[in-house]
Amino acid sequence: MYPIGVIKKYIFAKNETYSSMKKENKLFKGKTLAILSGGGDTPAINSSIESIRNRASLVGYKVYGVRYGWKGLLGDGDIVDLSNQPYNGWYGGTALRASRTNPFPSKRNPENRVPQILNNLDKYHIDVLVTIGGDDTNGAAKRLYETEGIPVIGFPKTIDNDLRTGTMHHYEGQEIEAVLCPGFPSAARAVTEFAARIKTTAESHSRIIVLEVMGRDAGWLTGSAIYGGADMFLVPEFEITKERKEFFLETVREAYMKSPKKTLIIAVSEGVRWYDDDKGKVDVVYASSEVDEYGHPRFGGISGIIASEIDNKLGIDARAQITGYYARAGECRKYDRRLTATLADKVVDLLLREEYGQMPVLNKIVPYDELEEFNTSSIDMGKIGNMPLPDEYYDINKFKFSGAYDDFLSNILKHPRYIDFNYDFPVVIPEK
Ligand code: F6P
Repeated sequence: MYPIGVIKKYIFAKNETYSSMKKENKLFKGKTLAILSGGGDTPAINSSIESIRNRASLVGYKVYGVRYGWKGLLGDGDIVDLSNQPYNGWYGGTALRASRTNPFPSKRNPENRVPQILNNLDKYHIDVLVTIGGDDTNGAAKRLYETEGIPVIGFPKTIDNDLRTGTMHHYEGQEIEAVLCPGFPSAARAVTEFAARIKTTAESHSRIIVLEVMGRDAGWLTGSAIYGGADMFLVPEFEITKERKEFFLETVREAYMKSPKKTLIIAVSEGVRWYDDDKGKVDVVYASSEVDEYGHPRFGGISGIIASEIDNKLGIDARAQITGYYARAGECRKYDRRLTATLADKVVDLLLREEYGQMPVLNKIVPYDELEEFNTSSIDMGKIGNMPLPDEYYDINKFKFSGAYDDFLSNILKHPRYIDFNYDFPVVIPEK
């Protein structure tokens, strides 16, 4: 167990009154909160760090940053002081740097490094840990909270947007369970812009472009390409069996023939499970079969396979483009900036109530102007897990996202980013 003295430190002394705290002026004076970010970077991590740091400082915490995720709490520790430091939350990525270190034993590293974590939390006098991450980082945090009693608060982060947040989307009388994680809004904007740019090249050459978008297990981000003018979509939630592949290729042919400019953009998630003619089974395409400490291999390359099958089987000129890190790199966009600030307000609420093992979430999907703390709550970190696209958002029979998903996206991105240039020039027939 985590040393009891350390756990007790954050609880007010019994005889402490509101006026004595007021005299001291700062509620948590003498206490230290450390922020850690794990897993892949997103454009909204620095914004999350800055927002949490600013608010925790206001209530008196000294704020540390743990560098390189869980790795920064191993060995001698790699801790920096964020209190009173300049910080630019608009800048993408994470100034605390990232790693996919798992403190618990894994296939890749069977060593249990939890004792090193406990040692460093004690050594650096860290009272509360805020973990910015997806399912992996926050899953490890939850285990440390449950098994060792470490006061942790999770903070959502993923461009894939597949971490269950219990955020409801109200659409035409329906209540759909959606997800909204910091990082997704900025990445969705980037995917939209990428698709919108590619569109002009695709049109110029009457080509089909197969656009590959990050998303190991879910198609949330792939869907955002509709705001960049994409026409068809494949997502990991629905596997493309032999029969479905034939139907998909037929649908592609028809859509291409019907399109006025003889062009299509097909957005596909990197984690799409596609029927492999040679293997005779459905499989994902790996960029590398080596797994990280959470057991994830690296995906990549499905767009090339689909493009060459369109080319070979349909005789239509098709090319692949991988959006890759373009989606998760670069500056934090406005929606994310406000979302992280709103969720950081809730972190302070959790700190004041001493509610640990919780993660702040948005209650319902709202446009930018309505992102406010009263629209937040927290969920038990044990419940977070992976969340696929709801059935209401995607139509496998048309390979398209629905009006409900479009409405979800309109709250976040406001409106599509591509412009249409429709022309129908009269053909000149030479005079005899
Ligand atoms: O964190 C999620 C993610 O964006 C996935 O969509 C993707 O498979 C993965 O990160 C790749 O991350 P990296 O290249 O850093 O291992």
